[in-house]
Amino acid sequence: MKKVKSLFLGLLLVATLPAQNTTPLYLDNTKPIDQRIEDALSQMTLEEKVALCHAQSKFSTPGVPRLGIPEIWMSDGPHGVREEISWDSWNPSGWTNDYSTAFPALTCLAATFNPSLAHDYGIAIGEEARFRKKDILLGPGANIYRTPLNGRNFEYLGEDPFLASKMVVPYILGVQQNGVAACVKHFALNNQEENRDAVNVNISDRALQEIYLPAFKAAVEEGKVWSIMGSYNQLRGQHCCHNELLLNKILKDDWKFDGVVVSDWGGVHDTRQAALYGMDIEMGSYTNGLTSAAKFGYNDYYLASPFLQLLKKGEMPVAVVDDKVRRILRLIFRTTMSSNRPFGRYGCDEHSQTALRVAQEGIVLLKNEKQFLPIPVGKYKTIAVIGENATRSATFGGGSSMLKVKYEVSPLEGLTAKYGKDHIIHSLGYVSGPVSYDKVEPSKLNADSLILAAVETAKNADVVIFIGGLNKNYLQDCEGSDREAYELPFGQDKLISALLKVNKNIAVILVSGNAVSMPWVKDVPAIVENWYLGSEAGNAMAGVVCGDINPSGKLPFSFPVKLEDNAAMSFGKISYPGEGGNQFYKEDILVGYRWFDTKKIKPLFPFGYGLSYTTFEYGKIATDKKSYTADETIKISFPIKNTGKISGSEAVQVYATQSKASVIRPAKELKAFKKVFLKAGETQIVELEVKVQDLAFYNEITKGWTVESGEFILRNAASSADVKSSVSILVK
Ligand code: BGC
Repeated sequence: MKKVKSLFLGLLLVATLPAQNTTPLYLDNTKPIDQRIEDALSQMTLEEKVALCHAQSKFSTPGVPRLGIPEIWMSDGPHGVREEISWDSWNPSGWTNDYSTAFPALTCLAATFNPSLAHDYGIAIGEEARFRKKDILLGPGANIYRTPLNGRNFEYLGEDPFLASKMVVPYILGVQQNGVAACVKHFALNNQEENRDAVNVNISDRALQEIYLPAFKAAVEEGKVWSIMGSYNQLRGQHCCHNELLLNKILKDDWKFDGVVVSDWGGVHDTRQAALYGMDIEMGSYTNGLTSAAKFGYNDYYLASPFLQLLKKGEMPVAVVDDKVRRILRLIFRTTMSSNRPFGRYGCDEHSQTALRVAQEGIVLLKNEKQFLPIPVGKYKTIAVIGENATRSATFGGGSSMLKVKYEVSPLEGLTAKYGKDHIIHSLGYVSGPVSYDKVEPSKLNADSLILAAVETAKNADVVIFIGGLNKNYLQDCEGSDREAYELPFGQDKLISALLKVNKNIAVILVSGNAVSMPWVKDVPAIVENWYLGSEAGNAMAGVVCGDINPSGKLPFSFPVKLEDNAAMSFGKISYPGEGGNQFYKEDILVGYRWFDTKKIKPLFPFGYGLSYTTFEYGKIATDKKSYTADETIKISFPIKNTGKISGSEAVQVYATQSKASVIRPAKELKAFKKVFLKAGETQIVELEVKVQDLAFYNEITKGWTVESGEFILRNAASSADVKSSVSILVK
């Protein structure tokens, strides 16, 4: 009895003692993240560390269950949150609650020239990703538009490193404020899909630093991006998913990236290289010949048991895995284990509105003879809408960016809602066949009969709105393949000529993420670059066509007249797509308008170009001083007036030229831009800043950035080819 009594008293004593704080340090949110990382790391076995470095399913990694460290879940990106994919196959998992908002393609976002819209875009897509419990959103894409044949240009931000940098940063900040990591991709030089897994890019340091890396650098240094995806291709003989120069030297040493490098799916090829040259999480690898789900060995990944064996045998220092694990834990603490992240939202009206605004601001009016557009409601009795893209989904297909959308308003639906169904007649005109990832399946419909029917429809209409372009099929704007030709596919040029014979009042609306040739450019009165606009596509397009919306998009890449006018394409196969697995970027720094301007080749439509329904008058550009030292900032100003009858926005641009340089410099380089909204008749003073440092070139001798002293010319312009005035400054 005594014994029982003392046991009872003992228990009572324990229960009444102040509770011991047993929360491990790594779980304590009040502690600095680096301390938490070290604490978690110190408690992990080697097996647990290695497990963090590779996938456990198509889109997840395992976490450390024993320590309560959760899995990481990822999703594509970059235009909406992709539907759920099966554990270890690419098949959709068949959920019914993963219908997302489709945002416009990134080419459209770039065309807005409006960084604050990129922020809204990032917030909205980040909210959707958060709601779907994703920790990493696989986007945005920041590869530079090098050739119009690249099947994935639509996922990127155009040809100019400055524009891409300014747009990528707010997108990332918007996503990450939801506690979801953005994963900027594909680092780097994945500028074509043809032979993307193997092509070995040979490029100068200067072109790399001046053209292809700045958007990634801005993503890291200004966007503070938490993850980055290595690309499939090789750079100087090493795959970019384990590339010593790109990942160790540039990304982690020079830019001080503290996040995680994720491989592209199947982009890792070697254990030692992946371990030593910067790869942190290996995703999407296939194991040798094992294809059945039961045998599909995530443990056979390069950074799984082969890596563990090397570590165990002492052939690989533990510090190598520790560095990766620190990065992965940091990402986990920033995302899935963050205690103060919001809960997200999904498929809500606000997201549709964001998608709509980006679409409306990104549409580019390329030609508008005698104010053919807008077509006010009620002006015409009969409007013929012709072309497959009037009804075809622009979000289904294209590869990993494909979306299962909550809804998608087609152009025909948008136009019908605007003009009323009694005023619209519709004809397909041409067809392309079903979406297929790696093959072309032609349609069974007869092309000639479709043309005949469309011509009949055009004959009976006051005006024709032709809605064509490319689509998300294999060999079009699609991952895994490049386009085979610069021309419009599926017989559209022939169709447009046939339509013109019976009706000259044609507006051509191109749905694409790429430039196309336009043999009919002089014959049609109006041309619009409409991009892939997502859920609100039809509403945005119809809004512009009828004049509710005044277009203000500007081209984020140049349209060459013919393919060989494009820099990369002008050097033959050795430049694109490569020969014997090698490719040389012979155009060097002269990419996009830098090439057209410097070589004095007239493009079909230049970079930065886009019309409005109103007109703008630019005043003379001025700077706050005449001469500057290398660490100063140039303050630029000029007046701009809306000289038309309606309000509108104009993306004003400032380009710089170095008058005399010790190295070749492009004729012009974009250094500042701003989207200005002006009421009819209104004048504003535009104020912009350019750091003198931003006038530097990458010096291959010193391996750093050099601003040479001497004269620079700054020009305000409405496009790269439409300079309004210039001012000379001196750098001391
Ligand atoms: C693409 C990536 C994508 C990944 C996962 C790859 O094929 O290149 O952009 O994020 O698949 O779907």
